[in-house]
Amino acid sequence: MNDYILALDQGTSSSRALIFDRRGETVALAQREFAQHYPNPGWVEHDAAEIWDTELAVARECLEKAHLAGKDIAALAITNQRETTVLWDRVTGEPIAPAIVWQDRRTTKRVEALEAEGFEALVAGKTGLRLDPYFSATKIEWMLDHVPGARERAQKGEILFGTIDAWLIWKLTKGSLHATDITNASRTLLCDLRSGQWDDELLDIFRIPAGILPEIIPSSRVAGYADPEWFGAAIPIAGVAGDQQAAAFGEACFHPGTVKNTYGTGGFLLMNIGKEPRASVSRLITTAAYRIEDAPASYALEGSVFVAGAVVQWLRDEMGFVKRAKDIEPLARSVKDAGGVYFVPAFTGLGAPHWDPDARGCLIGLTRGTTRAHIARAALEAIAFQSAEVLEAMARDALHPVRELRADGGAAANDLLMQFQADITGVPVIRPAQTETTALGAAYLAGLAVGFWQNVEEIEALWRADRVFEPAMSADQRGFLLNQWTRAVGRARKWN
Ligand code: G3P
Repeated sequence: MNDYILALDQGTSSSRALIFDRRGETVALAQREFAQHYPNPGWVEHDAAEIWDTELAVARECLEKAHLAGKDIAALAITNQRETTVLWDRVTGEPIAPAIVWQDRRTTKRVEALEAEGFEALVAGKTGLRLDPYFSATKIEWMLDHVPGARERAQKGEILFGTIDAWLIWKLTKGSLHATDITNASRTLLCDLRSGQWDDELLDIFRIPAGILPEIIPSSRVAGYADPEWFGAAIPIAGVAGDQQAAAFGEACFHPGTVKNTYGTGGFLLMNIGKEPRASVSRLITTAAYRIEDAPASYALEGSVFVAGAVVQWLRDEMGFVKRAKDIEPLARSVKDAGGVYFVPAFTGLGAPHWDPDARGCLIGLTRGTTRAHIARAALEAIAFQSAEVLEAMARDALHPVRELRADGGAAANDLLMQFQADITGVPVIRPAQTETTALGAAYLAGLAVGFWQNVEEIEALWRADRVFEPAMSADQRGFLLNQWTRAVGRARKWN
């Protein structure tokens, strides 16, 4: 019986696979971390071949753990780190260079030149995004200009581009399908948000040959089939979405005004704004949220925080403060507050609402009495402060007041962080019972396309809260802390 959905969740730090049943419960999970490469300051690269190998391995491991075979899977879903750029050879299927990761800042100068030429308004108007090295366009352009022979080969049709979803689809179908879903396409700076199609004027600006681009498909539709070699059966690939949009879907953010925050490597707040791609007036971006078959797309406002959970990783791996990420909470709890320490983790610049690629990390407020515990606590608080800035911007943009924040992702398990998030925003933070919302959202999209679930109402009924964190901080204290945070951010800005 095809009673399960297999979701591939290809994130920035790890490749994961999960199997879900009809109640949206996790049946099995497998995960592998893979190498991060930092060849120059501000550069971040992945090996796309390793991404494929680890993703295939965890998918197979997950099936084994669940004692299932490919024939038991009704549909396959893909969700992925967004913007990360892969170029590969159409014939050999080999990447032509390391993938340039979303966090990579190497194209900052090029972005500044485009701004100086006055392209910001045009690009923002069409794409809903900002001119920023975060998005794929200048990364593709960089590869075409710096990998020997790449531009000529691209012009001859020998090279293909894809974000990670397209790369996995192409690998899974053994090159028979070159496609990306609308949520991923909407992160490239090349897609017109209203038409949902690649835009010739944008392709000209970024000097990108149209022939390298994948076809844009809905997030929920049977797009193709995984080759039987991988899982022993031709499983339909039926749901594809960028990880943050998938998480919003998994959090049942189907109604305008619903907001989620995913605490992963980065932190990403998305608010459903309905069927009209409204522009932000407070430096957020507008993005496609999902598109089911041929129905009109839904859109979201997004605030992207580049470093959230990654700050805990950094304290673990580079500073040796803790052995395991989860040890950060007891360490931070061992002091009553951060002791006046503020930690702005602008390792890769600052995203929304500052958009400063030249910001760099800073620790301020240190005294002779500062301990590792204070710094750990300041790091957790930084995750919440950054999200609070975005939520405040979102509230200015929103047509309805923000009533609650749905929280998921790895760091949502941290009670100290969740309580501080509620305190510093003044909004209840709700942690759902199922926090694997990214993979689950993609699974829902796939399941809808094959009739595994009938409609979004059925999915909405499956969403349940685990715990609600009510704000408990006085308005004075909140105001003081936010003001200090703003001062600390001021020190980190334009540092590079
Ligand atoms: O836009 C980047 C985002 O998709 C990465 O998500 O979960 O890998 O931090 P994550």
